[in-house]
Amino acid sequence: MNTPMSEVMEVINRYVPKGFTPKAGLILGSGLSSLAEQMTNVVTIPYQAIPGLHAGGVAGHASLLAMGYLNNVPIVCLRGRLHLYEGTAYSSIRTLIQIVRHLGASVLVLTCAAGSLLPEAGPGEVMLIRDHINFHPGNPLVGPNDESIGPRFVSMDNAYDRGLREIMETAANKLNIKLHQGVYISTLGPSFETPAEIRAFKIWGADAVGMSVVPETIIARHVGLRVACVAAITNPAAGMGTEDITHEGTLHYGEIAARKLVKLIPEFLQEMQHAAG
Ligand code: HPA
Repeated sequence: MNTPMSEVMEVINRYVPKGFTPKAGLILGSGLSSLAEQMTNVVTIPYQAIPGLHAGGVAGHASLLAMGYLNNVPIVCLRGRLHLYEGTAYSSIRTLIQIVRHLGASVLVLTCAAGSLLPEAGPGEVMLIRDHINFHPGNPLVGPNDESIGPRFVSMDNAYDRGLREIMETAANKLNIKLHQGVYISTLGPSFETPAEIRAFKIWGADAVGMSVVPETIIARHVGLRVACVAAITNPAAGMGTEDITHEGTLHYGEIAARKLVKLIPEFLQEMQHAAG
């Protein structure tokens, strides 16, 4: 069920600091909460307090909406992603992204953990997502369309905004961070993929695999948010490495990649602010 955004924003607006308008929304993936810890002047809202959401329960996910500043850039940070494999409805993910839009942000920055299909992009490294393959069941925009929110048919050309990708590359170059690039394929999870599935995904053109990102990007494009996405590579995809994939392993390498993202995302936000003049 869709909770009306007026009802959602009535609650959110009780917490918004006077005059606060975020430039960007930021969604943090598993093991990436250290980014939120760098924020200053933070006001947080637990997801439980927001109509239309339920708290995510995966280890490594905190489930807070945090408004504040990262590198002096005002952002709204979604700490605790809602995943479909938890039984979350697409409507809850839509609510979260629409909050970002209603608060006045024009950009959504996604971070995520992902398995790598590129042998040269190993655990602990980071990959800029340049396109996706939707292998989630269905599409988050199925159902009646509210034209006041976005169009019925949404273009997914340039879903991962070219201009923002250039800014991310500039930021990575400045910081000497190796930034791989690739196509992300989403799976429902929560089981990891089989080696046979990964071989099939490779033929389709996938470079990274994960259980999030795609619904968020589709919803974000529907409401007109520009999207940037960086994946923290936590493991070689199934059948491509020497060890079994475990959630604990993904958290461990997620932390190593997070040390890069903790520098990259704030630099990106600064560069973006400068580019906007
Ligand atoms: N598959 C799906 N999701 C993931 C993976 C993976 O290999 N690694 C981190 N998240």
